Amino acid sequence: MGIRISPSILNCDFSQLTAELDKISNADWAHVDVMDNHFVPNLTMGAPIVEAISRVSPIPIDTHLMIEDPDRWAPTFVEAGAQSVTFHAEATQAPLRLARELRAMGARAGLAVKPATAIEPYLEILDEFDMILIMTVEPGFGGQSFIKSMMPKVERTCEAVRKSGLDVWIQVDGGVSRSTIEHAAKAGADTFVAGSAVYRSPDTHAEIDALRSLASAHVH
Ligand code: DX5
Ligand code: ZN
Repeated sequence: MGIRISPSILNCDFSQLTAELDKISNADWAHVDVMDNHFVPNLTMGAPIVEAISRVSPIPIDTHLMIEDPDRWAPTFVEAGAQSVTFHAEATQAPLRLARELRAMGARAGLAVKPATAIEPYLEILDEFDMILIMTVEPGFGGQSFIKSMMPKVERTCEAVRKSGLDVWIQVDGGVSRSTIEHAAKAGADTFVAGSAVYRSPDTHAEIDALRSLASAHVH
């Protein structure tokens, strides 16, 4: 099983986007947090900025849509160049239809759940997704503390993926750092978002390598 590191650019220096993306060129994906100030109390960017990011990014774009009405907006992020589009279970009206639409456009489709949302209803439709994102903070801001009590949810998701035989990635996002990544890897996550841990480091490339090797040590 592979390990993927997807640094979040939420707290990077947006006036130096090209340089900031080069700082994570040894990662697998660039995690781009889209917030609409309705689904979460923060506002970031829309598809035109994602399109600009995708033009200069050395690695593929993993969009995390924290927006209302993803059924309407998510496809525009595929058009903007995102190779993976993750929308929230709490926000969509029709998760199957939307996942199928994203896949038909050639993107990977991801489903995200907030900390208080159960994953069980979605385990029945795992085959419709390429990735499940288990949030390990309340979405909205970088720099929050990892919620370790989400690990049983990661374990149950991992178990369901294993039973299904499908290649569905399990992503964790929020508070992932050298001191927390092993908990998530042990629970069965394989795709790790880390924002402040990477961008606050004086050596982002070394930080990404360190996170990858810590996680790899626990992959089963
Ligand atoms: C939070 C975002 C995260 C955030 C992670 O709502 O979805 O991707 O940027 O940042 P850290 O790693 O600092 O918690
Ligand atoms: Zn995110």
